[in-house]
Amino acid sequence: MTTRIIATGAYAPGQVITNDDMAKVVDTSDEWITQRTGIKERHISSGENTSVLAVNTARQLLCRAGKKAEDIDLIIIASVTADYGTPSLGCMVQKEIGASNAVAFDITAACSGFMFALSIADKYIKTGIYNNAIVIGAETLSKIVDWSDRSTCVLFGDGAGGAYVEKSQTDGIIEEEIGSKGELYDILTEGHTECKNVFNDKKEEPDPLWYVNMNGREVFKFATKSVVKSVERVLKNAGVTADEIKFVVPHQANTRIVDVISNKLGIPHEKFYMNIDRYGNTSSASIPIALNELNEKGLIERGDKVILTGFGGGMTWGTMLVSW
Ligand code: ACO
Repeated sequence: MTTRIIATGAYAPGQVITNDDMAKVVDTSDEWITQRTGIKERHISSGENTSVLAVNTARQLLCRAGKKAEDIDLIIIASVTADYGTPSLGCMVQKEIGASNAVAFDITAACSGFMFALSIADKYIKTGIYNNAIVIGAETLSKIVDWSDRSTCVLFGDGAGGAYVEKSQTDGIIEEEIGSKGELYDILTEGHTECKNVFNDKKEEPDPLWYVNMNGREVFKFATKSVVKSVERVLKNAGVTADEIKFVVPHQANTRIVDVISNKLGIPHEKFYMNIDRYGNTSSASIPIALNELNEKGLIERGDKVILTGFGGGMTWGTMLVSW
């Protein structure tokens, strides 16, 4: 028995901000951003919070999978930008779509979040505990970037993407792994909150570590190393060669990272599905948004072998080999 992706969906805020728009906010240019990252534009929230993006994605998944909300067993949302500390986005989605029989929760693994969430859903389904799940990566990164820091604010966008998955006897997830290297946690951080209370003398000052902080070069090194090793392990464990792969859907952080990964793996660049030019880096939403686009375009057929792979804060990584 395995777990199969039956439907994909995605939702992004309507407001599109180009590199030229960014150049009005910080000292940057379309040329710099395009050359260093591959990003041309990104969707930025006009006020919709992360739950709105997740709910819209969940509704689309139900519609495309032809399922009723009350038939959903499990809802897992990956995010680093939830509306609240509690409730979880999962519970908010559960309420809005009326999935009264589901159990819902969130997980956090930054840009690898969708891979972690899908891996968890897969375990619940393979062990027979649940028959199906809605798995979503959803982010409004615009609320946690420092809009005066040109080295980070140009990189990110808002959006959500997801998959409806269910028990399958034939095609589905063939092999997967998730991993983490906590000793590198401080090369990419966001959302730090200080421990302030009436019994200590911490001052009420803005915490600079609330915003995305990143050692870009170290993240670059980690990303290229961890993704390459992870994809190689997954292929080896599955007994599948790189030639058999129809598409790789990588985390959309930077085209140059994907160029290095493609060269090291010996998988041609054309097989890497990219849409970073239109979305920027949407963290946990980036892989499912790209997968949904690939699916909507009809570029993958039943039985095609597809790799989903990503890396993120933590530091974390995750790779999945899927028979579509
Ligand atoms: N516009 C113009 N100039 C800029 C900008 C900008 N937006 N940002 C930085 N610069 C300048 C810097 O100030 C620096 O100037 P200096 O040489 O005068 O000091 C110069 O450009 C080079 O800066 P670097 O940070 O060295 O640029 P680099 O080539 O390393 O590119 C980048 C930066 C794109 C972040 C790169 O390091 C990278 O891709 N790292 C991988 C990390 C990543 O992709 N993170 C995404 C989020 S994390 C995740 O998804 C898990």
